[in-house]
Amino acid sequence: MEAVVPLRKVLENMANTMTSCSGDRRYTCPECGNIVEPVVIEVFGETRYIRSTCKCELERQAQEEARRKEYERKARIERLFDLAELGPRFAECTFESWIARPGSERCLDAAKNFAEHFDRHQVSGEGLLMFGNPGNGKSHLAAAIVNAVIPRGKACVFRSVPALLKKLQETYRADARVSEFEILAVLQDADLVVLDDLGAEKMTEWAESMLYYIVDQRYRWRKPLIVTTNCDLEELEERIGTRTFDRLLEMCVLVENRATSYRKEQAFKRIKTFKIGGDA
Ligand SMILES: Nc1ncnc2c1ncn2[C@@H]1O[C@H](COP(=O)(O)OP(=O)(O)OP(=O)(O)O)[C@@H](O)[C@H]1O
Ligand SMILES: [Mg+2]
Ligand SMILES: [Zn+2]
Repeated sequence: MEAVVPLRKVLENMANTMTSCSGDRRYTCPECGNIVEPVVIEVFGETRYIRSTCKCELERQAQEEARRKEYERKARIERLFDLAELGPRFAECTFESWIARPGSERCLDAAKNFAEHFDRHQVSGEGLLMFGNPGNGKSHLAAAIVNAVIPRGKACVFRSVPALLKKLQETYRADARVSEFEILAVLQDADLVVLDDLGAEKMTEWAESMLYYIVDQRYRWRKPLIVTTNCDLEELEERIGTRTFDRLLEMCVLVENRATSYRKEQAFKRIKTFKIGGDA
């Protein structure tokens, strides 16, 4: 129960912190050495002086509060979209582990540029849409961007669109621990969102409206979005709807990855090795 403090006591306490002499309440800040002048107030027609807090202390408190809020914001995003869940393959997708292959030069340049100037992209909201054939490294480059900006303290979400829609659908279950609202709020708030494999989802009216909402929120708040897709641009428009597609065109730099499948290349190499090795 809250203790009731008589008004008289409150006024007495206030009076104790005040003085009619400004000199008593002026002091030298032990932190920055500035002279801190008291606050002047009028009480019942009398001038009173209250010891005030130094600007440097107020700034320190404001910075601490901002740090606490940022920490909580990131924790909220990481709680719902923990990148560690994506496993070692994701963590290994970096610019360092990228092998130059013909046809993917522009994509690599765009991804590197995006990561390097991420702060600028955070202000402009300009994102990246990488499209092209399967297995040629689009998701690798998107993950490399995320892995490059995470150490700079950025809160990122990386999910394949089918998995993201499944996560949203699970919130409708009676025993769901997370609400649809919380997930959508995090997708709006994150510094960077990667919608991996857009167009691979089963398109329903619900899926279309969810994707529209997610893209539109990022669009309104000028927050960068990275999209990877196997679809060509026409197909993508058909799949996700013109309104979502139009927003992506405005928000993202479009880059085609023309390289062949690295997955296939590796698989053929393995077959060759197998033949040469005989019974290996
Ligand atoms: N240039 C490259 N250098 C090194 N690894 C690569 C390169 N391109 C692709 N890979 C690797 O090949 C695998 C397939 O690449 P990734 O998943 O990025 O392809 P994708 O273009 O996203 O394919 P999909 O369109 O099917 O989703 C991954 O393990 C990735 O790390
Ligand atoms: Mg992919
Ligand atoms: Zn000070």
